[in-house]
Amino acid sequence: MCVSEKNREYPGDLETYKTTKKGLKVFIRPATISDESHLRDFFDLLSVKSIYQRFFTPRVNLSHRFLQNFVAIDYSTKMVLLVVLKQGKKEEVIGVGQYVVMDKTNMGDLALAVRDDYQNQGIGTELLSYLIHLGKKKGLSGFTADVLGENRAMLTLLSKLNYPLEKRIVGGVFEIKFFLDPDENHARENHAHEKMNEFIP
Ligand SMILES: CC(C)(COP(=O)(O)OP(=O)(O)OC[C@H]1O[C@@H](n2cnc3c(N)ncnc32)[C@H](O)[C@@H]1OP(=O)(O)O)[C@@H](O)C(=O)NCCC(=O)NCCS
Repeated sequence: MCVSEKNREYPGDLETYKTTKKGLKVFIRPATISDESHLRDFFDLLSVKSIYQRFFTPRVNLSHRFLQNFVAIDYSTKMVLLVVLKQGKKEEVIGVGQYVVMDKTNMGDLALAVRDDYQNQGIGTELLSYLIHLGKKKGLSGFTADVLGENRAMLTLLSKLNYPLEKRIVGGVFEIKFFLDPDENHARENHAHEKMNEFIP
C-alpha cells in the first residue's frame, strides 16, 4: 500500500496518560518510524506463549521488514499504539496494540500484546479501550479480532466490553466481531449474538 505523506504526519494529539486498575501510570502514544528498536526489544522479551497467542506461531523473525509493519504506518488505515514506561528521556515499550482498517467493511482488525512481566495489571484493558475510542472517533463500523480458543485473558478482555460480541470458531480460533453502532448491534443481537461467557473455555 502506498502511504501518503499527508497521512503519515505524527498525530501527537493522540498521546495520553492512563492509570490502570492496579495503579500503574502508563504513557500511550502512536508508534513512529523511529520506534523500530523499541519494538525489537519489546518482541524480543515476549515469551513464546505470548508470541504464539499474538501471531499464531511460536517464533517471529524480528527483521527490519517485520518491524516496519508496526512503525511505517499512516495512522489512518493502520494505527499502532505503544504503551510506554518513561524513565527520564528513556522509554521502554511494555505493550503494543493495533487496528488495521478493512476497506470493504470499514471494520478495524484488532491485535495487541502486553509484555509478560506486565500482564494482569490492567494495561491490556486500557490499550484496548483506547484503540476502540480512536476507531470510534475515526468512524469505524466496528472491530474484528482473531483469538485462539485457549486465550482466556484476551477472551476475558473482549467479554468485558460494552458491545455484544459475535463469534465464529474456525480451527480452534475465535473470529470475533462487534459493531460500534448500538442499532447495528441490536439488530444483530436478535440473530447471532451469543454471550462471550458462554464460550470462554
Ligand atoms: C491478552 C493480553 C493483551 C491482556 O493484557 P493484560 O494487560 O494482561 O490485560 P488486563 O490486565 O487488562 O486484563 C486481563 C484480564 O484477563 C483476565 N485473565 C488473565 N489471565 C486469565 C486466565 N488464564 N483465565 C481467565 N482470565 C484471565 C484477568 O483476570 C483480567 O480480567 P479482570 O480485569 O476481570 O481481572 C495479554 O495477556 C497478552 O499480551 N497476551 C499475549 C498476546 C495475546 O494474547 N494477544 C491477543 C491476540 S489478539
